[in-house]
Amino acid sequence: MVGGPPPGPAELEARDACAWFGDHLVLEGVNLRMRAGEVTALIGPSGCGKSTFLRLLNRMHELVPGSALAGEILLDGEDIYAPGRRAQEVRMRIGMVFQKPNPFPAMTIRENVLSGLKLARIRCDDKERLVEESLERAGLWREVKDRLDRPGGALSGGQQQRLCIARSLAVHPNVLLMDEPCSALDPTSTRRIEDTIAELRGQVTVVIVTHNMQQAHRVSDHTAFFLAEENQPGQVIEQGPTAKIFSTPDDPRTLDYVQGRFG
Ligand SMILES: Nc1ncnc2c1ncn2[C@@H]1O[C@H](COP(=O)(O)OP(=O)(O)O)[C@@H](O)[C@H]1O
Ligand SMILES: [Mg+2]
Repeated sequence: MVGGPPPGPAELEARDACAWFGDHLVLEGVNLRMRAGEVTALIGPSGCGKSTFLRLLNRMHELVPGSALAGEILLDGEDIYAPGRRAQEVRMRIGMVFQKPNPFPAMTIRENVLSGLKLARIRCDDKERLVEESLERAGLWREVKDRLDRPGGALSGGQQQRLCIARSLAVHPNVLLMDEPCSALDPTSTRRIEDTIAELRGQVTVVIVTHNMQQAHRVSDHTAFFLAEENQPGQVIEQGPTAKIFSTPDDPRTLDYVQGRFG
């Protein structure tokens, strides 16, 4: 590949990150280090700003008219909002997978995987190899290798989500953001995606929002608990190694949440 990002996982760090929609402050003072090659889970009740935080991390928040932000987001120490830095370049290095699988339905499976390259203007001399490698990493290769010319929309929901992961991986991002990637999927498909996340560990930094506590426990190294108290902006109440957050957190609200007492 020519013109792609430097390969391998990168560290992401939020420093005092805040976000507004209009004059509504929805996220305040988030400090969080997402270590290179680790999986960081973001948990917390609906509406506490997890998706907004994720969108701050790859410059999608600014696409909402009237939105604003403050603080810094550092990718391997460099502010992604530095003057002159292009959002397109940032989004190529920091990919995103959404709750609802969104492949291009009429494009073939192969074209879907390669579609990010065109947008990012990356040249690739061996497209067949890249298609195989990306689908392999997303855990989909064996199921689709004989029908790469079929439309992406013909796959099952779980396969479509893995196709979206393959499309994101094809540009060799340093970070992959996932916003409730399994919430529309059945348990078997969910398990496949969790296996994929486990295999990506060390190769890509993963940040995943999930409402499934078992999933957060299974897939992540580090967990951050977000909460918005009544009429207050969302904040990170507590963060730490996943094992600790789920067994002996410092804040009683964290324990109540991970034990399912609210949210
Ligand atoms: N596009 C938007 N315009 C205005 N308010 C929004 C928008 N998206 C989210 N919000 C508000 O921001 C807050 C955080 O939402 P969100 O980040 O989606 O939370 P979560 O992902 O934790 O459920 C909520 O109060 C929500 O209503
Ligand atoms: Mg959300």
